[in-house]
Amino acid sequence: IFIIFFLQVLLPNAPTMKYKEYEKSVRIEEIDGAKLVKNVAQNMEEIFRKKAEATRRLVEAAEEAHLQHEENPDLQYEYFNAVLINEVDEDGNSVELGGEFLLEPNDHFNNLSVNLSLSVVQVPTNMYNKDPDIVNGVYWSEALNKVFVDNFKRDPTLIWQYFGSAKGFFRQYPGVKWHPDEHGVIAFDCRNRKWYIQAATSPKDVVILVDVSGSMKGLRLTIARQTVASILDTLGDDDFFNIIAYNQEIHYVEPCLNGTLVQADSTNKDHFKEHLDKLFAKGIGLLGNALTEAFTILNEVGEDYQNSCSQAIMLITDGATQMYDDVFAKYNWPERKVRIFPYLIGRESAFADNLKWMACANKGYFSQISTLADVQENVMRYLHVMSRPKVIDHEHDTVWTEAYVDSAVSINNHNVLCLYSICILYRNVQCEP
Ligand SMILES: *[C@@H]1O[C@H](CO)[C@@H](O)[C@H](O)[C@H]1NC(C)=O
Ligand SMILES: *[C@@H]1O[C@H](CO)[C@@H](O)[C@H](O)[C@H]1NC(C)=O
Ligand SMILES: *[C@@H]1O[C@H](CO)[C@@H](O)[C@H](O)[C@H]1NC(C)=O
Repeated sequence: IFIIFFLQVLLPNAPTMKYKEYEKSVRIEEIDGAKLVKNVAQNMEEIFRKKAEATRRLVEAAEEAHLQHEENPDLQYEYFNAVLINEVDEDGNSVELGGEFLLEPNDHFNNLSVNLSLSVVQVPTNMYNKDPDIVNGVYWSEALNKVFVDNFKRDPTLIWQYFGSAKGFFRQYPGVKWHPDEHGVIAFDCRNRKWYIQAATSPKDVVILVDVSGSMKGLRLTIARQTVASILDTLGDDDFFNIIAYNQEIHYVEPCLNGTLVQADSTNKDHFKEHLDKLFAKGIGLLGNALTEAFTILNEVGEDYQNSCSQAIMLITDGATQMYDDVFAKYNWPERKVRIFPYLIGRESAFADNLKWMACANKGYFSQISTLADVQENVMRYLHVMSRPKVIDHEHDTVWTEAYVDSAVSINNHNVLCLYSICILYRNVQCEP
């Protein structure tokens, strides 16, 4: 499993007075520029070092706690669920996974009511909050509470400390009450936050191939569009991508960006998402040509930048009638530098075998998506596969992600600049095909 932490730092609000209001008291003083820069650099270094140290302490505690824990599929454990705390049923009794949880308003946390001795656990609505995997993970990760408290004591500039598990639960310190949206849903899933993905995988080059042959008409195309959109959501500024629709011809979803990859920043991703609505299904699917095109682009950019990043082809189709081993032999073997992740759309699995073989032969992972509700969970599996080499290499990198303000946690984010530090931990690596 791999596990991710991050910390948040709040910088003081910027002065709101205008220069004019200060002018009278302004005087001129000579300063040594080099000294000033050095000073600032030292202070910055100290800030960053302290945050990295705090995450390291969490990583060590988590590794130790996980090592001591024995997985028990029947484990019963009442934890403080962020949504259920302080909720009562009609008779006034605490609901399961709720319980009385003392909260007090705190200036340091935007006057939100928090509990400084305990963290709370959040589980997305589409997951079962008593799933054995989750209950076991929550149980052993209780050990983090004392480290959270200790970190905050040592460095009072820390704000939130988070722990995101690959199993999908999210531990947040200090404890705070969460409220579902107007539909009663908690959509927040820590695993598709940018900080999680950036730390879990290295920068990626991704070509998405979407089958738009006649058999993809209707619901399948809708699911395929949603799958592409979900894949895009997992990409960030460090990643590059393109989307190719194919039937008997190859159609770049954005024809101006033919034969290249573009940065997966939000502007580009939004732009491509708009184009997805224009896809329509007809004709026959010639996957061989599409694969050739994808390999050609990936090989070219690989040579151009000499980059060490990982490369993948996402294949979204309702089946493949061949294995296309000649294409793979020509472009991808023996190094198998490009991973293939086939997503089989629809309930039928008559053509699944060829897709499974492609995944196995190219260090990827096969998934079947039969309904819209399955899309997100299935799409995210590729991240676990892509992060596996980091796990196997025992990388304990600290990754500084881009500045990020999370509105989903409903924290007042006025004038806030956040820095996040992330570390990775692993154990019990399972190698699926
Ligand atoms: C946090 O909540 C627990 C459970 O309600 C309570 O025992 C504890 O005193 C609270 N801690 C603080 C600092 O309020
Ligand atoms: C928190 O509340 C106090 C008193 O109500 C107020 O003085 C302070 O400005 C508030 N702090 C923030 C960050 O909103
Ligand atoms: C890509 O652009 C080139 C030059 O404009 C053109 O010759 C080629 O056919 C285009 N390829 C595709 C797949 O659209």
